[in-house]
Amino acid sequence: MTRRVLVTGGAGFIGSAVVRRLVRDGWEVLNVDKLTYAGNLASLNEIDNRPNYRFLKADIGDGRAMREALDTFRPDLVMHLAAESHVDRSIDGPGDFIQTNVVGTFNLLQEALRYWRGLDAGAQKGFRFHHISTDEVFGSLGADGLFREDTPYQPNSPYSASKAASDHLVRAWFHTYGLPVVMSNCSNNYGPYHFPEKLIPLTILNALEGKPLPVYGRGENVRDWLYVDDHAAALELIATTGRLGESYNVGGNNERRNIDVVRTICAIMDRVVPDARIGAREALIAFVTDRPGHDARYAIDAGKLKDELGWTPAETFETGIEKTVRWYLDNASWWEPLKARYDRARLGTA
Ligand code: NAD
Ligand code: DAU
Repeated sequence: MTRRVLVTGGAGFIGSAVVRRLVRDGWEVLNVDKLTYAGNLASLNEIDNRPNYRFLKADIGDGRAMREALDTFRPDLVMHLAAESHVDRSIDGPGDFIQTNVVGTFNLLQEALRYWRGLDAGAQKGFRFHHISTDEVFGSLGADGLFREDTPYQPNSPYSASKAASDHLVRAWFHTYGLPVVMSNCSNNYGPYHFPEKLIPLTILNALEGKPLPVYGRGENVRDWLYVDDHAAALELIATTGRLGESYNVGGNNERRNIDVVRTICAIMDRVVPDARIGAREALIAFVTDRPGHDARYAIDAGKLKDELGWTPAETFETGIEKTVRWYLDNASWWEPLKARYDRARLGTA
């Protein structure tokens, strides 16, 4: 039997990797996305003419649109990725984060609950709602320790607070109303189709053009990097086989200081695209004002996901970052329009 999945945020970075994977795996996929600045249908070019793929432009905060999408598509799985995702933007303007991540998730839960209650007993049993979240809800680690599923929540940015709120709502809809949910919290993703405001794509593209490479503070903050297709594989596994009411941490055991990530990218770029006018790219590194409330360190213990569901990532940071750099070099038509718009906005000339 063909499985039917409604993916929210499927035109974003991780959502598009999930949609490409599920379409290739033979799922019937409905991608529901508002197409904010971060949503890009060009990320789905390779599957958008497949008969098992459909797109609906809609806001998860729009109750009627979500109701119609659920009632007409009749999914047996919802994978909820739609969100405002960039920490710096949440500091400059938290309103959209509350609206989409909190109110939007609430609205989607209400509509999913109504839809699920209307299913017959067999279909009810087969239905799942998978909420996709972040390790940032756990706050900031010191030099030691790892985030586990039972680590207390301590969000520090408007973004992570809004994601934490959404996690709590999802958990409550399971315990109070019995909606069959599963949750996951993942570390920093990187890879193809990543919007060029985030550290890794911004560094690759600025290094290519010989522009300054902004590093916040002294670059000593640590992130735990996971290649996006490894996350997509984990999400399919969790959505289909994770225990209901449980959450799973996802991470690749790839802790790196930001400065080391930037230096690694510089070294790859110097080797793959040497440019005599630019010279050694490390000289482009510019230490800039730190992000307010900047979390010092994130690191995931993915033991539960590995032990219970058998997931292991395919990429190491070294293989994944090399692939990522080469993807950006080969796919200028995808990023050029986004980067130009982003650079103009940063300079205040948009
Ligand atoms: P992204 O910003 O690249 O994409 C978000 C997508 O959601 C976009 O396509 C956007 O158009 C859509 N969207 C935003 N508001 C919407 C709304 N109101 N209605 C419908 N669609 C809307 O984000 P991402 O990096 O792909 O992250 C996806 C999810 O994974 C988010 O929930 C994020 O919190 C979570 N996450 C991200 C990371 C990461 O490293 N990027 C890590 C862990 C978890
Ligand atoms: O941990 C998961 C989270 O990872 C996700 O939930 C978020 O949606 C995602 O955006 C990402 O958040 P970060 O804030 O960690 O990602 P970002 O790429 O913005 O920054 C990574 C690190 O690099 C962070 O410590 C801040 C720093 N940084 C970032 C930018 C954009 C810089 O030093 N310079 C920069 O220009």
